[in-house]
Amino acid sequence: MNCSTWLSLILVLVQPWPCSTSPRNSGTPNTEQPVTALRRVKRGWVWEPLYVTEEQTATEVYVGQLKSDLEKQDGNLKYILTGEGAETIFSINEYSGKIYVKQKLDREKKPFYVLRAQAISRKTQLPVEPESEFIIKVRDINDNAPQFLDGPYVVTVPEMSPADTSVIQVTATDGDDPSYGNNARLLYSLLQGQPYFSVEPKTGVIRMASGMDRETADQYFVIIQAQDMVGQAEALSATATVTIYLSDVNDNPPKFQQELYSMSISEEAPVGTTVGRVSAEDADVGENAAMNYSIEGDSLDFFDIITDNETQEGIILLKKRVDYESKRRHSIQAKVVNRHTDERFLEAEPFEDKTIVKIDVEDADEPPVFTLENYVMEIAEEAVSGSVVGMVTARDPDNDDSPVRYSIVQGMHFNRLFSIDEHNGTILTTQPLDREIASWHNITVTATETRNPEMISEATVYIQVLDVNDHAPEFPKYYETFVCENAVSGQLIQSISAVDKDDSPQGHHFHFSLAQEAASNSSFTVKDNQDNTAGIFTAKSGFSRQEEFAFFLPIIILDNGTPPLTSTNTLTVTVCDCDTEVKIVYCRYRAFMYAMGLSTEALVAVLACILILLGTNPFPR
Ligand SMILES: *[C@@H]1O[C@H](CO)[C@@H](O)[C@H](O)[C@H]1NC(C)=O
Ligand SMILES: *[C@@H]1O[C@H](CO)[C@@H](O)[C@H](O)[C@H]1NC(C)=O
Repeated sequence: MNCSTWLSLILVLVQPWPCSTSPRNSGTPNTEQPVTALRRVKRGWVWEPLYVTEEQTATEVYVGQLKSDLEKQDGNLKYILTGEGAETIFSINEYSGKIYVKQKLDREKKPFYVLRAQAISRKTQLPVEPESEFIIKVRDINDNAPQFLDGPYVVTVPEMSPADTSVIQVTATDGDDPSYGNNARLLYSLLQGQPYFSVEPKTGVIRMASGMDRETADQYFVIIQAQDMVGQAEALSATATVTIYLSDVNDNPPKFQQELYSMSISEEAPVGTTVGRVSAEDADVGENAAMNYSIEGDSLDFFDIITDNETQEGIILLKKRVDYESKRRHSIQAKVVNRHTDERFLEAEPFEDKTIVKIDVEDADEPPVFTLENYVMEIAEEAVSGSVVGMVTARDPDNDDSPVRYSIVQGMHFNRLFSIDEHNGTILTTQPLDREIASWHNITVTATETRNPEMISEATVYIQVLDVNDHAPEFPKYYETFVCENAVSGQLIQSISAVDKDDSPQGHHFHFSLAQEAASNSSFTVKDNQDNTAGIFTAKSGFSRQEEFAFFLPIIILDNGTPPLTSTNTLTVTVCDCDTEVKIVYCRYRAFMYAMGLSTEALVAVLACILILLGTNPFPR
């Protein structure tokens, strides 16, 4: 076995170390292990771990030496360097195998270089050692400061959050080697923001103190510092600002701006008039400041309150007209509550406030007021002219109590039936009234203040004319009554009834009878049916036209008025020959003409004409 065979074998054993173990091994500044590995190798390349510290400015810095066991110090070996940065970055002394770095290196740009070494014999120009790959590692220095890549930060957190609520986590990065030393080990601290905020040194989580109140300050600028080298003296650092806004929660109740409000309203103001506004303030914003108003007190009948959603004011409205003369000052309690409440703060203070609102009623000149809106009076009909019907009264409600004057408003076609005493409101008749013409007289009276004639008011007076029994009952119509010559006694020849113009609240009751003078030897009787009718009956059998052509029955009708009135009504009974129908017709016309006062001859002629016109022979026999 010759030398070169040995060398190859050794190199096979050695070679894996610089290439494969060095990246794995990087970070641990342990230089012992590779050396140990090498000691077992007796011959071939002798490898020291090769490091270059980054950022060195000197032009030629020794890195390490290539060495072969075969080196005999005779200058026959020539070392050659190839690979990444050979010649440009790294140089080699071809006699000694010493490697130098020629420029400043930056680990953050390139953490290691892969190179190859060769040793050749100057005499033979043949490799003494086979080519071998090795690595030069760049050793980290703390040349990179931490950086807040995401800063500046802006974050919003609800006010009144519990202590240590996490606000945000800030993170800085460091370009240095996190696996070597403390160059990239960061420590967070707070430069500005105490005592409201704190930061966890290792994690960068910012936490807040308890009870932070938006209404005191709603914006905080926190400055966070990140230091590498775990904050040691030579550490590099960076800062970031964190703008923290506090968002609102409903932690403030509404408060009235005044403890007492004074308002006034005219007694003339119509319902719905705005009396005034009350307003409460709420330190919160938006929904948390939304409020509702209500009122309490004795005068709730008169006032109402609504919430103006735009201005958040309470508007007091007139619900019912006020009256200076009956109450000059109203006092109500206005209440305001938050529309939405946060239970967390309810116990601390009630979310409502109250205030007193005094409302003065202003006097206004008002028209007179009648004691009644309308009056109902009665007057008996036929009462003599000048009779008192009744009296109306009106008063000026105002303080000065002006006297009033009364008058009657005259209708267009009003025939003056009434007069009024202008001073005392007494209504009198000017003429007797007839209920049967008009049972009601509805008139309008006015009252006018003498001190201010513009102040006028009206009232209606309904005057009912009360009935007196001034009308006797009478037949409702003309009765055309016949009796046949062959009539028998007790036969009904006519039913009669009666009417009365007077009013009878309990209903009319009429009584029928035959007048006294006729009753003794009459051919007829009157039978009262007790129902405001009566029947006329024959009192004998057989009548003769020759003997008596017509009977005149005086019938007395009695009413039930007070005083009762009677009248005598004459019923004419005509005697007829009832053998044929024609004769009844003839009889009827004769009776009619007779009643009209015509002579018998004329009647016959007229009737004959009528019958001829009707096509009937009036003289059949
Ligand atoms: C009203 O005044 C008239 C005189 O104008 C007088 O006759 C009458 O008695 C008075 N009536 C009352 C009720 O005072
Ligand atoms: C007057 O008033 C009475 C009662 O309200 C009513 O019955 C009557 O019809 C009225 N008469 C006139 C003419 O308006």
